[in-house]
Parts: sequence; C-alpha cells; structure tokens
Amino acid sequence: MKEIAVHNKQFRLLYNASQIEKQVERIAEEIKKEYKDKSPLFISLLNGAFMFTSDLMKLLEIECDLTFVKLSSYDGMQSSGKVKLHFGLDRSIAGRHVVIIEDIIDSGATLNFFLDALKLQNPASMKVAAMFVKTDALKYPVTPDFQGLSIPDKFIIGYGLDYNGLGRNYKDVYEIKD
Ligand code: IMP
Ligand code: MG
Repeated sequence: MKEIAVHNKQFRLLYNASQIEKQVERIAEEIKKEYKDKSPLFISLLNGAFMFTSDLMKLLEIECDLTFVKLSSYDGMQSSGKVKLHFGLDRSIAGRHVVIIEDIIDSGATLNFFLDALKLQNPASMKVAAMFVKTDALKYPVTPDFQGLSIPDKFIIGYGLDYNGLGRNYKDVYEIKD
C-alpha cells in the first residue's frame, strides 16, 4: 500500500485520484441538472477546497459565477472549534442561488458559522457541496446537499487538504497511520 511521510508522520493511501474523480463527475452531473437555468454563485472555501473547486468547475459547463472566502478552524490535526475569517465575501449574495464548495466536513463548525452568516444576506437558496464527510465526527447540524466520499474519523491529507501547510498538492488522499 502506498505511503507518504509529511512532517515526520506516516500516511497511507485511502482513496486514489480516479476514485475521487468519479465522485466529482457524479456531483457535477447533480449540480448541472439542478442549476442549469439558475446562474448559481459558487463560494469556495479556501484553502482546502481549491482542488475540488477546480475539478468541479471544469465539468459544469453551465452559466455560473465563482468567488472565494478564506476561513480556518483547524490547528494541527484537531478542529479548534473557533472559526477565523481571513477574508470575506466580495459581493452581495442577496437573491442569488448559492452553492458553497467545501473540501471536508469534520465537526461542521466551519460551515455552521458560515451558513449562519450567509443566511443574514437573504440568498434565494443555499446549498453545500463537500468532497469528504467525517460522518462520525459531526457536532453541528450541517449536512451536505452534494457529497463525495464518507471517511472514517481520521486525519487525512491530499486533494487540497493539509497537515500544517503540507500535503495539499497530492492528487490522492492519505489517512494518518496510527
Ligand atoms: P470543521 O469545522 O470541524 O467541520 O472542519 C472543517 C475544516 O477543517 C475543513 O474545511 C478543513 O480545512 C479542515 N479539516 C477537517 N478535517 C481535516 C482533515 O482530516 N485533514 C485536513 N484538514 C481537515
Ligand atoms: Mg476547509
């Protein structure tokens, strides 16, 4: 089984790039069907969602708009529970059909915070696309409308996700070995 070392920790392959790609294709089909006449606004949560966002956007082929927001809640391998906003929305979302693109839902703290803030701006609708979901780690009432892969409650890297800044660039996803 393929393994990599990041910051002196060992990680083993969990999902390879083609397994991830199949999920992105399925999600793109679902989104296309639902949004083709709605000119949606996608809001991608940096940094982690950059790779998922890029792969997804290339497959959509519908009229749409994309912007980025930077939030963080993670410290090392743990959710800190506190969400920091590093830079915010650059436009109004009032009356828009909004789809948030997130890399992974862990405790749900990040999305819970962000969804509450967006609701105040009265979007026409608001849905969430998340590539990975740690189903057993959820502490807040957030469920993705478009979901890629369920994963165990273990720390992962790759496909945009990092461990203290490293590992985002891998096209496959790796879980911590313990
Ligand atoms: P939550 O707020 O607890 O749901 O955590 C979500 C955010 O923490 C995600 O947007 C990721 O950026 C980061 N995160 C959660 N789990 C992992 C992981 O296993 N590896 C790397 N980053 C993670
Ligand atoms: Mg993130």
